[in-house]
Amino acid sequence: MRKLYVAMVGLPARGKSTLARRIRQGLRAEGTRAEIFNNGDVRRALLGAESTEPDFYDPENSFGREAREMICRQNLEQARQWLAQGGEVAILDATNASRARRAYIEKTLTDHPVLFVECVNEDPLLLNACIRRKADLPEYAAFSRDAALENFMTRIGYYETIYDPLRDEKYWLCVDSTANRVLAERPCEGSPFYPAIREIVVSVWVHSLFLARHGQTEFNVQGRIGGDPPLTAKGRSQAEALARHMQNHRLDWVFTSTRFRSHETAAPLLAQRPDTHVMALKEFDEIWAGDCEGMLYTEIRERMPDVTAGRNADKYGYAYPNGESYAILRERVQRGLRRALFLAGDSPVLIVGHQAINRVLLSLFLRQRTEDVPYIHIPQNQYYHIELTPQRKVFERIPYDPVSAV
Ligand code: F6P
Repeated sequence: MRKLYVAMVGLPARGKSTLARRIRQGLRAEGTRAEIFNNGDVRRALLGAESTEPDFYDPENSFGREAREMICRQNLEQARQWLAQGGEVAILDATNASRARRAYIEKTLTDHPVLFVECVNEDPLLLNACIRRKADLPEYAAFSRDAALENFMTRIGYYETIYDPLRDEKYWLCVDSTANRVLAERPCEGSPFYPAIREIVVSVWVHSLFLARHGQTEFNVQGRIGGDPPLTAKGRSQAEALARHMQNHRLDWVFTSTRFRSHETAAPLLAQRPDTHVMALKEFDEIWAGDCEGMLYTEIRERMPDVTAGRNADKYGYAYPNGESYAILRERVQRGLRRALFLAGDSPVLIVGHQAINRVLLSLFLRQRTEDVPYIHIPQNQYYHIELTPQRKVFERIPYDPVSAV
């Protein structure tokens, strides 16, 4: 069987390492011997702090340039040896940003085909978050946050001056790493690994997603929709119970909506986890009821019978006057989920959403008839837990506050 080199391509903070790990995991799940060879690991081991200085990446700095070329050579050699000793797919994780570097890789690695996989991330929110996250790496421990960010931005700037998108290389796959989408490709015909890798890059994996609804609010008690109400005492106790329940779970990311009830529900849990990343996404804001925002269901029934009739006839497709339907919600919820999963990478994530939002989120995983989606049960004392990888498929609903009725 032919072996394969996969060389990642892309500017820093575009999701290369996460995708490299996914390719390795996906291939291993099929019994393929796959390994990652990361230039950054070699660089940090050999040069340490010296290579954190932005000038190290200045293309005009001959020491930095030669050191990076030496690291690249060393990594290629390790990958080649590993394939010779029984490995099947060697993944070279580096920026490989310039055409010259890639030509060098193709010229050097002639024993097996080289497939370049380029990661593109043009979502400003995600790019910004990825860059900020880099400032938390141990490499920047000696820097203030602002200094680390400035340092990393300068590094990216240097890479931008030498960056060429893929074009002339023999085999390549250009991927929007934020949307699991192939943007362009030149397939590696004949390689049994190419279709598998293509499939891995377009599939949505969920390593561990906890999906909770905010705790009870005054509006919930009254039967009033939308708005931005705070939690009731019972809602706050549900939030405390969620925090207690999650104590033994790793959670690297928590996403809320921009609504107060979602923040309030996440607050006790976040208070115990200073290192957890937290982000409020508008995509997870509750369905917008337009002219009916803040109204009681009973009021709507009396004063706007057409709305109630419209929802009864087609709850999924019916949009509130000047508001949203479940069908409309789908696109933004999908965008939010994509963003959340991209940022979380392979680490566990909690989304604290709302009734309609969580229904739509769940429907993205369940093969549900659309007309059933607006009726999925979303209690305020239970969460859904989802894992979806080649190795594990989990879908469960877990009570976290059995004493609180919903
Ligand atoms: O009642 C709480 C709530 O989150 C409202 O804000 C929202 O309009 C509603 O649930 C969505 O559920 P349904 O579509 O069943 O009215």
